[in-house]
Amino acid sequence: MAVREVLQIGHPTLRIGARPIGAGELASPAIQTLIDDLIDTMHDAHGAGIAANQVGETVRVVVMEVTANPRYPYKPPIPLTIAVNPTVEPVDDETVVVNEGCLSVPLRGDVERHVNVRVRYLDRHGVAHDEVVRGLTAGTWQHEVDHLDGVLFVDRVDDRTTLATWPQFEAHQRDAFIERITAFVAEVGS
Ligand code: NI
Repeated sequence: MAVREVLQIGHPTLRIGARPIGAGELASPAIQTLIDDLIDTMHDAHGAGIAANQVGETVRVVVMEVTANPRYPYKPPIPLTIAVNPTVEPVDDETVVVNEGCLSVPLRGDVERHVNVRVRYLDRHGVAHDEVVRGLTAGTWQHEVDHLDGVLFVDRVDDRTTLATWPQFEAHQRDAFIERITAFVAEVGS
């Protein structure tokens, strides 16, 4: 297990669509070690999630976890989740604007995300999961699966005037965003 270097925006690997992991490949030491490294790297960087291509491996696996996160104190908890070959499908037209950050991008910005999505994936043991996730958790899923398609959140920022460094976000946008998103989380429950 190891903390890996997180590639930064501009690195071409972040723009490569990752390939599915084969049924016989998932149990291999290479993939299982990669999963452990993703968990360690996410924890080290205080991320809410990380995708394999962010550490240079173009395979379809993401990990997510939110406990008490200093980067995103308003995010509801997400149990440690390992998602292999994940898919995300909106279940209705409801959307919310979320101010997002990313371990591969030194900025935050506003992105419109679906509020209710169906996610299907394999866990690290190959067990199939099929769930509906909501709210900010749904946004996190969309952000991470975007990575596997070579998409970064900045690609989805419609209002580019919302782009801000973390210190400028803290100084000028944080309070209003947290007030709005806390009410949203209370309403949706996740
Ligand atoms: Ni990201």
